[in-house]
Amino acid sequence: GGRINVAIDGPAGAGKSTVARRVAEQLGYIYIDTGAMYRAVALAANRAGVLPSDADRLAELVKTVDITLEPGADGQIVRLGGENITTDIRSREVTLKVSEIASHEAVRLRLVEMQRKLAEAKGVVMDGRDIGTHVLPGAEVKVFLVASVQVRALRRYQELSEGELVPLEQLEQEIADRDRSDESREFSPLVRAKDAEVLDSTELTIDQVVAHILDLCRTKT
Ligand code: C5P
Repeated sequence: GGRINVAIDGPAGAGKSTVARRVAEQLGYIYIDTGAMYRAVALAANRAGVLPSDADRLAELVKTVDITLEPGADGQIVRLGGENITTDIRSREVTLKVSEIASHEAVRLRLVEMQRKLAEAKGVVMDGRDIGTHVLPGAEVKVFLVASVQVRALRRYQELSEGELVPLEQLEQEIADRDRSDESREFSPLVRAKDAEVLDSTELTIDQVVAHILDLCRTKT
């Protein structure tokens, strides 16, 4: 069969990136983490002293920002003007600011344009919030991956480095806040596409989720 595009959306910490990366590996496809692109813009804004609320300066910044994604040994490498920022974009500071940055229309227009170009040739597994609804409405497979907020906070907690330890309840609160912000924004909010399959990973292993998505892909290729 021919190559297809796979869209994996859902709230923070549902396991999208791990699952998407593995599905891409299995299919020999390219994995694209769109959250990393919004995080790269948030990092660039932070470094330039641009506030997450400053629509005009963000619109300027996003015009010139040079973000590239490339496959690496353990996942995707993200570069900003050539500099490897893969680790920097996972900081708490970026995580706390990224949703407001991602709410601006100018930021979204620019990144969505890049994302569509990356998926033009098909053979892409893309994860994010608006992939099935807005970026790739024609994606052959669409999954909306969810999990309880408790499980999502616990997974994030286990990923924190020693220097960043925060109480689990605080993480839960921050994840819930980020979901609310992503769901309630005006431009392409986080919402399930009508034709997306909902997968609840609360009580599933990563392997089970991956196997299920690969089954969906098999019926389309
Ligand atoms: O996926 P990740 O948690 O790294 O995404 C960080 C943030 O980027 C999300 O909370 C959301 O605000 C934004 N985002 C988005 N649209 C996407 C991917 C991410 O608005 N397609």
